[in-house]
Amino acid sequence: MPSSLQCQDNHKLHVAIIMDGNGRWAASRELMRAAGHEAGIEALRRVVRAAPDENISTLTVYAFSSDNWKRPEGEVAALLDLFRRFLDTETEDLVRDGVKLSIVGRRDRLPQDLVHEIERAEAATEWGDLLHLRVALDYSARDMIIEAAKKAAGAGDLTRETLAAQLGAPEVDLLIRTSGEQRLSDFLLWECAYAEFHFTTRLWPDFAENDLKDAIAVFHHRQRRFGALQAA
Ligand code: IPE
Ligand code: IPE
Ligand code: MG
Repeated sequence: MPSSLQCQDNHKLHVAIIMDGNGRWAASRELMRAAGHEAGIEALRRVVRAAPDENISTLTVYAFSSDNWKRPEGEVAALLDLFRRFLDTETEDLVRDGVKLSIVGRRDRLPQDLVHEIERAEAATEWGDLLHLRVALDYSARDMIIEAAKKAAGAGDLTRETLAAQLGAPEVDLLIRTSGEQRLSDFLLWECAYAEFHFTTRLWPDFAENDLKDAIAVFHHRQRRFGALQAA
């Protein structure tokens, strides 16, 4: 059981980000939506570099939801292409920076070449120990919970602990969503049970190191009680 006021401890943080607003960023510049997604990759680079200095040890980012398959074919293709290029160009830097990369979500609906790229990048970065970067791709928290519950029940032991172990991530300390939307959109429903939420109107491609710093600073002023009473 986590202690109350944990956010003021010096413990390492799990921060989750719903990287939203790429389309609106592009529209405001009269650009194609794909250009917004490209610019979003730059924002992700900035945040990954800044994360260890903010005491973040796990960073989970929402890149493509299982519901995003509903988007036009051209946009989905552009996004898949962007993920391929990200894995291709970024792996070396991630290794250098001590970042372990994991892709979370379903893989059976992704193109085979992308799955191979994912496996290659995960293997190359597996020794990273400064930051665990988890990128959610074809991700649905509800589906993840169902799968985890099936596995735990199949092993004859379905408890909070075994289900959490199957999900494989620490509880989220802070969830950030950009672009002004204030919803979870099927992201980390289990892991966010006691997360602090930070909503900002900043569009994801404009999100910079200072925005991360500000969000963390606000987080450190929150009082987390986990159902208990505030310490005297
Ligand atoms: C987030 O930006 C990226 C993905 C969902 C893939 P959006 O594409 O949702 O941008 P908006 O919400 O339309 O501005
Ligand atoms: C959630 O954003 C998914 C990602 C950021 C990848 P959406 O833009 O798809 O969410 P809704 O549709 O506004 O809830
Ligand atoms: Mg959106």
